[in-house]
Amino acid sequence: MNILVTGGAGFIGGNFVQFMVDKYPNYNIYNLDLLTYAGDLTKHKHIENKGNYQFIRADITDRETIISLFEQKQFDYVVHFAAESHVDRSITDPGIFVKTNVVGTQVILDASKAINLTKFIHVSTDEVYGELDFDPTTFFTEETPLQPNSPYSASKASSDLLVRAYHETYGLPMNITRCSNNYGPYHFPEKLIPLTISRVLNNEKVPVYGDGKNIRDWLHVIDHCAAIDLVLHKGLNGEVYNVGGHNERTNLEVVKTIIQALGKSDNLIEFVKDRLGHDKRYAIDPTRLEKLGWKPTYTFETGIAQTIQWYLDNKEWWEQIISGEYQNYFEKQYSIEE
Ligand code: NAD
Ligand code: TYD
Repeated sequence: MNILVTGGAGFIGGNFVQFMVDKYPNYNIYNLDLLTYAGDLTKHKHIENKGNYQFIRADITDRETIISLFEQKQFDYVVHFAAESHVDRSITDPGIFVKTNVVGTQVILDASKAINLTKFIHVSTDEVYGELDFDPTTFFTEETPLQPNSPYSASKASSDLLVRAYHETYGLPMNITRCSNNYGPYHFPEKLIPLTISRVLNNEKVPVYGDGKNIRDWLHVIDHCAAIDLVLHKGLNGEVYNVGGHNERTNLEVVKTIIQALGKSDNLIEFVKDRLGHDKRYAIDPTRLEKLGWKPTYTFETGIAQTIQWYLDNKEWWEQIISGEYQNYFEKQYSIEE
C-alpha cells in the first residue's frame, strides 16, 4: 500500500509519518513537503533510511510536478496536511494562505481524481466553524455551519468545500477531519504551548493575548495520528469527522500550568495587545469519531507533562529551529525536483 502524506515535515504531518512508518512496515510512506519555514527534516533522522519511507521535496501548488508525480507513483491513499497553519501569519499575509491552502489543495485534488485512489483524507481544523461563546454546554458538531473568522480558517474552509465538491462531482472517495488545537513533540516554537515552554526555560516573558480568557480544546498529536489512522482504514466514504474533545483550557490556564511545572514564576506572563478577530472559544463534540472506535489516550494533564518533558529532553531540536540553523541541513541533503 502506497500512502502519500503531504506536509510530512511539519508538526502533525511529521508525527503522523513517524507513527505510520513504525506501525505499518509493509506500507510505503511518501512524505511530500516543500520545507517552508515550518518544515523540518531533522525530526526524521531515525527513519530516513528505513525501506518504507521516502521523502519528496515538492510544492503542492506546482501543478506540473504534482500531476506527473501522481502519474509515476501508484498512490492508494493521500493524507493531506500541507498548509500554511499559523493564524497570526495569516493576519499579516493572507495571500500565501490562499495560494497554499486553496490552490495547493485543488492541485492535489486534480492529481488525485486522475488516478484510482482508494481514499483522500483532508486534514482540516475546527476553526472552520468559527467561534463558540463561553457557554460550556455548546460544542462544534459536524453539522455546525462553517463560519471562519480568520484568513487562515477561511482558507481551510475553502479547501474543505473543494474536497466536498470533488467528492460530489467526480466521486472522489474522501474523508475530512476537523481537529482541535494539537500539542506535543515537534510543535513549532511559534505556537502557544511550545512558545511558552521554550520562553519559560529561557526565563523570557510569555506574551498572552488580551485577557488570556480565550479557550482552546487541546488534543495530543499522537491521539490525532491514531484518529487519522482509524479514519483512513474505517471512515465512511464522504464523511466528516471532528477530532478532539473535553480538554478545554483558557490560554492563561495553559501558560500557568507550564510555568508551574517548570518551577518558575507567573511574573513571566506579559499581557499583550489582543489578536485581531481573536476567536473566543473552540470545543469539539467527537461523538461520531468515538462511534467509529476512537478514544484519546491522553488527558490534558498527562499530555502536557509528557510534552514539557519532551521539550526538556530535546532542547537541541527547538534551539536549532529558533536559531534558524536547521535550514542548512535541508539544503545540504535535498533540492527541489524540477
Ligand atoms: P505545520 O505548519 O507545522 O506544517 C505544515 C507543513 O506543510 C510544513 O512542513 C510545510 O513545509 C508544508 N508546506 C507548506 N506549504 C507547502 C507547499 N506549498 N507544498 C508542500 N508542502 C508545504 O502545520 P501543522 O500544525 O502540522 O498542521 C498540519 C495540518 O493540520 C494543516 O493542514 C493544519 O491546517 C491542520 N491543523 C492543525 C492544527 C494545529 O493545532 N496545529 C489544528 C487543526 C488543524
Ligand atoms: P495558537 O497556538 O496560535 O493556535 P490557534 O490560534 O490556531 O488557536 O494560539 C492558541 C491560543 O493562544 C490562541 O487563543 C491565541 C493565544 N496566543 C497567545 O495568547 N499568545 C501567543 O503568543 C500565541 C502564539 C497565541
